[in-house]
Amino acid sequence: MKQDKNEYKQNKLSYDLKEQSLISPFDSTIPLYSPKIRLGILASGNGSNFEYIVKSIKNKQLNADISILIVNNPNCLAIKKAIKYKIPFVIINHRECSSRFEHDMLVMKKLEELSVELVVMAGWMRIVGEEIINGFKNRLINIHPSLLPSFKGVDAIQQAIDKRVTITGCTVHYVQKEVDSGSIIIQAAVPIKEQDSKETLKKRIQDMEHIILPLAISKVAKNIRTSLKDNK
Ligand code: GRF
Repeated sequence: MKQDKNEYKQNKLSYDLKEQSLISPFDSTIPLYSPKIRLGILASGNGSNFEYIVKSIKNKQLNADISILIVNNPNCLAIKKAIKYKIPFVIINHRECSSRFEHDMLVMKKLEELSVELVVMAGWMRIVGEEIINGFKNRLINIHPSLLPSFKGVDAIQQAIDKRVTITGCTVHYVQKEVDSGSIIIQAAVPIKEQDSKETLKKRIQDMEHIILPLAISKVAKNIRTSLKDNK
């Protein structure tokens, strides 16, 4: 059938996309639980995710206390944020340890000493060993800047650009031995625009990270509180 050109141009997409969320699984209500969960945050870099966890607690979006921020790099900006928000922090410099195991043990000792219940790797640029993974089974989570299982490992944003995918994103997942491979808790999709540079794309991915990480913490904290009740 001959299609009228103007009519064709004026056609709008007939799907209603309003309900399609870029965050999945998406729930408009934040999981509720009590008492507060005691968090240990591990960071190596800028600490923007750490800062958003702090903000979520202040805004009453997250029922948590940060028992400690642990950094492995004495020059990382996360320290400045801890000072700004008066969050206790400790530097456990891996360069001063003779092995990965020794560093892991110092981290583990600090987390246990403070009775941390949930450990959040928020830009922790180190592989954690089995002792921490087993010691915090189902209580150790990581945020990664891609839609896992795509683009595991280092420089995930550049990997996505190099592969010319048109959608990437970020993932919060449980940590297991294989890097960036544990069960997925929550993901957010981020389109890659033609005019994107790595920096503009990184900014949009991080904006989503700052939303999904506190949400994932709430979800996992609720599971921890529920399983504690079940075990009583
Ligand atoms: C984030 O992009 C996270 O996905 C990755 O490291 C980055 C940390 O950023 N694991 P910041 O230090 O929280 O700003």
